[in-house]
This record gives sequence, structure tokens and C-alpha cells, in this order.
Amino acid sequence: MKRNSAKRIERSVPRKVVRMRGAGKTIVLGVTGSIAAYKSAELASLLVKQGHQVFPVMTHDATEFITPLTLQTLSKNPAMTSFFDEKENWRPGHIELADRANLLLIAPATANILAELAHGLANHPLAAIALATRAPILIAPAMNGKMWSHPATIENVETLKARGVEFIGPEEGMLACGYEGIGRLWKVNDIAFRAEFLLARQDNLIA
Ligand SMILES: Cc1cc2nc3c(=O)[nH]c(=O)nc-3n(C[C@H](O)[C@H](O)[C@H](O)COP(=O)(O)O)c2cc1C
Repeated sequence: MKRNSAKRIERSVPRKVVRMRGAGKTIVLGVTGSIAAYKSAELASLLVKQGHQVFPVMTHDATEFITPLTLQTLSKNPAMTSFFDEKENWRPGHIELADRANLLLIAPATANILAELAHGLANHPLAAIALATRAPILIAPAMNGKMWSHPATIENVETLKARGVEFIGPEEGMLACGYEGIGRLWKVNDIAFRAEFLLARQDNLIA
């Protein structure tokens, strides 16, 4: 009886994100034009609480869903939305971020950004950073289930996985487009946890 209630308590305790080792890291948080983009605000906030430097990089369409001001306030760093934000610096800001990043996390990731990354396009800062960085890349996709299961998306995901890109989600549930099925952004807490795991794994590989 006692053992059962202990089990119940264990299950009901929410997963807590804790820093495993090492100092705060630099995370470039890519945000794309998905209805789930508002969840990136909580993600940015969580990663900052975990002690990291978070630099939001938003696609143009992401700014239709969440303002750069929100992400910039929560991350305490400027949100990059265009190559032409970068005029004050002699060194292109996107390359500086690509070099500085310990992790590139794209959450939520649209079908469009998956196609761009799979094909090596670089026509906006987020895509260019993905090409220029040598940091691990973690992608949390969110989209309509038919978009996710389309052969083009499947092929793009396979291409990216073969290059070492890691994926988390999507999960099943009620989608904003009215369908039920696969396509929802994975739980933000779990995305932050996976990011922490990848950073710690990097520490272990380097040590
Ligand atoms: C209300 C609304 C919600 C959308 N949600 C998604 C989504 O969750 N996933 C997705 O792949 N595309 C979604 N789209 C389509 C993308 O915004 C569109 O493909 C866009 O070009 C993506 O640009 P980006 O990848 O540069 O951010 C949505 C569009 C609208 C109008």
C-alpha cells in the first residue's frame, strides 16, 4: 500500500529542469512562423532561468505570431529578425552568433524551415546560422499532421537527421488547425530538458 502511494507521488511530480554541470551556455533560439510560436516565450524564459545566455533569432513570419519585444525582454538579448539589423557592427552578427552558440535550438520549427535547412538555404539569419554554426542543432517541429507526414517533410527530416540534427517531437493532440493527430509542439519543459542534456553531453565529449 505504502509502496503504491510512493509510486503515485513519483509519477505526479512534474519533471524539473536543473543544470547538470558547467557554466551557463549560449543558446541561439530560432523561432519560426507557427501558431505555437507563443510557446517560445516560455521556453526562452526557462532557458534563462537555467542560467543560459539566450539569443532569439526569428524568421520574418514568426514576428506575425509573437513580437521580437517579448522574446527580447524575456531573453534579455536583442531578437534578430533580419540581416539588416546588423549594421552597427563590422562583423556580421549572424556569424558571430553562429560561432558563439553552444546550441542552436529551433522551437517551433515549421515545415518551411525544415525544407530550407535540408537544402542549405541561407536567405535569412536563422537559416544562415544553421549553416554557419558547428554547434549541435535541436529542432522541435510543429505543424499540421498532413504536412508532417508528407513525403517531402519526411525526406527533409531524414536528411537533417543523417547530418546529426536532433529532433524532439512533434506530439499527438488537438492541433490549432482543427485536426487531431501528430503535429503539436513537444512540451516546452521537455524541450528545455533535452537542450540541457545536449549541452551536458557536449561538456562530456569535450572533457
Ligand atoms: C495561423 C497560421 C498558423 C500556422 N502554423 C503553422 C505551423 O504550426 N507549422 C507550419 O509549418 N506552418 C504554419 N503556418 C504556415 C507558415 O507560417 C508558413 O509556411 C511560413 O511561410 C513559414 O515561414 P518561416 O518558416 O520562415 O517562419 C501557419 C500559418 C498561419 C497563417
